[in-house]
Amino acid sequence: MMIAITRDVSASLADCQLSFVDRDAIDIERAAAQHHAYRQALESLGCRVLSLPAQDAMPDAVFVEDVALVFDEIAIMTRPGAESRRAEGASVSEVLARYRSLRAIEASGTIDGGDVLRVGRTIHVGQSARSNADGIQQLRALVAEFGYTVQGVPTHECLHLKSAVTQVADDTLLIQPEWVDRDVFAGYRLIEIDPDEPHAANALRIGSGVVYPACFPRTRQRMADAGIDVTAVDLSELQKAEGATTCCSLVFRDFSTA
Ligand code: GLY
Repeated sequence: MMIAITRDVSASLADCQLSFVDRDAIDIERAAAQHHAYRQALESLGCRVLSLPAQDAMPDAVFVEDVALVFDEIAIMTRPGAESRRAEGASVSEVLARYRSLRAIEASGTIDGGDVLRVGRTIHVGQSARSNADGIQQLRALVAEFGYTVQGVPTHECLHLKSAVTQVADDTLLIQPEWVDRDVFAGYRLIEIDPDEPHAANALRIGSGVVYPACFPRTRQRMADAGIDVTAVDLSELQKAEGATTCCSLVFRDFSTA
């Protein structure tokens, strides 16, 4: 059984942090409806979805991915790079503590979960404005005993590493080569996004398929051609807040039901 931790959309989402996206009006009711459909998609793919109540004083709190890293062995509470987001983790840690032993990134380290891409025993971490060298070094020390290798990866023109590259099958990554050096990932089969869809590299892998924004049909076709099952969801309002499919959940294995 997979667990997916999510959090309802904050009424203040329009006041979210933005780095590489221009501010545009967000329809909160529509965002909430899209988020509901997203949760249903996770359930349809076999996840047990846990929904935390909205934190209206924290505009970005729907993007739960950024506040924690969940591995089979432990979970690590991050210290998000944006100061406005540092209080978001408290309620998530209360839930995660039921499933994993918890560790934490300490000041002055910063890590956003959106920068952390684990593929097998390798953890790629975006060297973005949100995740600094101290945070990456702390992560390396915390996971070394479990046999993980941590590799820093420069990113540019995007918020997080997972804006630029995500895993869509065991050996396959979906990549936006203008935002991250594809040579870093030369050992994997790579699917490039369609150049007309620059924001299309963020897919959420669940089991043998992915949850994916409906607004990128060309890249979706490239994945279908590669044999990947795609469940499309409309996330237009959350995308205006510089969030996407991976950002809205923390998905991990529940060993208590294994
Ligand atoms: N709005 C998502 C973030 O900047 O953290």
